[in-house]
Amino acid sequence: MRLFLDTADINEIKKAKAWGVLSGVTTNPSIIARQKKDFFSLATEICETVYPMPVSLEAVDREPEAMADQARKLSEISRNVVVKLPANPAGMEALTLIRGESVKTNLTLVFSPTQALLATMAGADFISPFIGRLEDRGYDGLGMVRELMEALDRHESKTEVIAASIRDPHQIVEIAKAGVHIATVPFVILEKMLLNTMTDMDLDKFLKDWEEVPGREYMFREEIRKAAGA
Ligand code: G3P
Repeated sequence: MRLFLDTADINEIKKAKAWGVLSGVTTNPSIIARQKKDFFSLATEICETVYPMPVSLEAVDREPEAMADQARKLSEISRNVVVKLPANPAGMEALTLIRGESVKTNLTLVFSPTQALLATMAGADFISPFIGRLEDRGYDGLGMVRELMEALDRHESKTEVIAASIRDPHQIVEIAKAGVHIATVPFVILEKMLLNTMTDMDLDKFLKDWEEVPGREYMFREEIRKAAGA
């Protein structure tokens, strides 16, 4: 499974990249709005920071032709742009309008396996089932993704599934077990996946014990080791 970051915060993107776990970025209009920055400059900076890994930017209209046109314009920002279209009739129509053009697509706001199947049949590059938002409304989000994966696995398809709207680290483990290709996570969840107080506590003990090791102050000083013939 690969990990995308669900953010438009450049610092968060840089941190995830430095940890060696970043395979792409997803955004949506709400995430973009939080940054309070000029959209074109922000999108360009994200795409450059993440290149050549994919960056999802969302079309913002309800009409198929307008969304198709926005998809083309968003794609001009950078070659790694993937355009998010809603998994509804207008989004499917927009997807069909741009088929054959060099525009990558991510069908978003997927809340059911049937939406996923149709988006796959229409040739979406990615689909984004929203787990957390389903669970917020009292439905089995993880169950939906498991069912969706089972259905898609039985067919040849180039569409990759991005599990989105993740609420806690445990969901990531379940998503990985279900064979989902990608999980997109907010930075706070990524941190929670890594941070563990037991790691910190035991590291403190190791570093304290190291203070008792003879020769420790020279070990990492090349010139002193060389002089000693080590
Ligand atoms: O990628 C989809 C995601 O942005 C939605 O997440 O946390 O707003 O439900 P959330």
